[in-house]
Amino acid sequence: MVSREISRRDIVLIFLGATCFYAFSALFSPKSNPMIVKDPDSILAPDITMDLGVQGFPETSVVAHAPGWTLFRNLYMSGGTLLLLTSNSSQFPDHKFMTSTGLPGNLTNDAQRMPTPKEMAFITPNEAKMRWGRQTGISVHERNRVLTVEGLTHISHQVAQDYHFVAELMFGSWLFLSGAFHNQSAIPPTSAFEPSFNGPSLSTSVPFINRAIFIHSDVNGLRDAPGFNGYFLRAVFPSMTVEVSIDWIDRVNATTNTKIDRAWHFPLVLFTDRSAAFRSPICGAYTQRTAAEAWMLMAKAGKIDLIGNWWASIRDTLSRYAGSAPTDDPPSATLPDSQNIIITYINRQGTRRHLRDEDNLALVAAIEQMVERKNRQGTKKWEFNNVHAERITLDEQIRFAAKTTIMLGVHGNGLTHLVFMKPTRFSAVVEIFLPGGFARDYEWTSRSLGMTHYSIWNNESFTHPHEPVLPAYPEGFHGPNIPVQGQFVAKLIEDHVAAKEQAAPAPSLDNSPVYDKFGG
Ligand SMILES: *[C@@H]1O[C@H](CO)[C@@H](O)[C@H](O)[C@H]1NC(C)=O
Ligand SMILES: *[C@@H]1O[C@H](CO)[C@@H](O)[C@H](O)[C@H]1NC(C)=O
Ligand SMILES: *[C@@H]1O[C@H](CO)[C@@H](O)[C@H](O)[C@H]1NC(C)=O
Ligand SMILES: *[C@@H]1O[C@H](CO)[C@@H](O)[C@H](O)[C@H]1NC(C)=O
Ligand SMILES: *[C@@H]1O[C@H](CO)[C@@H](O)[C@H](O)[C@H]1NC(C)=O
Repeated sequence: MVSREISRRDIVLIFLGATCFYAFSALFSPKSNPMIVKDPDSILAPDITMDLGVQGFPETSVVAHAPGWTLFRNLYMSGGTLLLLTSNSSQFPDHKFMTSTGLPGNLTNDAQRMPTPKEMAFITPNEAKMRWGRQTGISVHERNRVLTVEGLTHISHQVAQDYHFVAELMFGSWLFLSGAFHNQSAIPPTSAFEPSFNGPSLSTSVPFINRAIFIHSDVNGLRDAPGFNGYFLRAVFPSMTVEVSIDWIDRVNATTNTKIDRAWHFPLVLFTDRSAAFRSPICGAYTQRTAAEAWMLMAKAGKIDLIGNWWASIRDTLSRYAGSAPTDDPPSATLPDSQNIIITYINRQGTRRHLRDEDNLALVAAIEQMVERKNRQGTKKWEFNNVHAERITLDEQIRFAAKTTIMLGVHGNGLTHLVFMKPTRFSAVVEIFLPGGFARDYEWTSRSLGMTHYSIWNNESFTHPHEPVLPAYPEGFHGPNIPVQGQFVAKLIEDHVAAKEQAAPAPSLDNSPVYDKFGG
């Protein structure tokens, strides 16, 4: 049942990468794209006794911004347009780095994805008052015709690109919020005021995310075939409400279906847009990871650590849900030691893109032999798991990932689970490509958590900074005949562990993903 077809998502990925690369030089203009991270104290501290229904219209501000990721206070929506209420529009980033028309990207529709005043516009305080303000002449009971959507809302332009959901959108969102609310202890992390079955709360600094609104996704849009997206969302955010395009239409219609103009007010909004992130080179030209834009902003500002402590609460929540022990270690500045070396091979032989059958067997045999030998010789306990993700439950997949030290596999979706590994000084991801092929998805993601990443081309390997600059998808990249020399991979893993026993310097910004290219 092997198909040589390139899937839609591969095409989208290639096109997005290519499109944005060509736009690179034109767009890299820091002036039009201020990166913003404000002091968290400025985020909260509204006067909650104020009745906006009679007292008026708080102005919009941007608390944090990187291309594709914007945290707003006091965003408005009317008629489907996101409105920035301000008397000074020059303090905002260019709209194209915040939003788009929401169409999925491809090589030919760059222009169609550029935002128009229909997606985002400015409105002055006076205009707002004219459109939505109470008319005291009519009745003293008249209120401003705006409703507040309380709490923190994640509004996303994400469309059906299912494999980006957890390892990119959710990963990046949590990264961005962790950075924006860094050291903000005043915010309650949960909305719960009754006893809860959910265990210790998720985080000490990110506020409770009340809802996610996917403007451009229908009810099935964010579902993936293995069901992982829904599993993750419900396990990690059990109280978060999800709205999709039809719900957004209800909200739009609530502002437009009468002769009277109305609006919605969102006091706190994380707004995410994939096309906007791709317009900046860190994502568009270099990593093809939207989360890399958020990472660069927050890492540079010193708002997140470089070994993924910011992500630990999500990882632990999912581990706990799946039945494995969460970490008790307090967050630290360096990666912890580990007594076990657990190698997990994500075996793709049952899927489209995979190793030559004989190479797969030789790889498994080589690693089994190496692990046996290590267990006879050494002090560490070695373990090898040959996992066919499609044959085990999602809970089992997470339990494997949670205990893995070294994740190994052919480039593909299964490597997404690397975000649920608990990074130690030995942690690594070993990704096998067709020789000549390369994609940065898992390379960037591994390194953003402080883990080492190796790319394998049959009997060669490379790691940062020796990887190709651009992704490459040669003929056969997605095919069933990817070669690999098992002995070579087994030796690479053995050497990696030996090297880390000797020295494991803490990740530094200079050695961090893309900082060397774009950090200056
Ligand atoms: C508007 O904002 C810009 C950028 O923050 C600032 O330089 C300028 O002084 C502001 N203008 C007014 C009238 O406040
Ligand atoms: C690209 O997207 C546009 C819509 O934005 C669509 O009209 C066009 O057919 C798409 N092209 C390809 C090659 O998929
Ligand atoms: C966090 O805030 C506390 C209290 O305001 C302060 O003592 C501490 O130094 C801050 N930590 C960081 C990393 O900024
Ligand atoms: C929203 O309003 C439009 C235009 O008035 C109408 O065609 C559509 O049926 C409404 N949608 C819903 C879900 O009510
Ligand atoms: C890798 O394999 C190729 C093809 O079998 C061979 O020509 C080459 O010499 C090998 N390279 C190394 C470094 O072993």
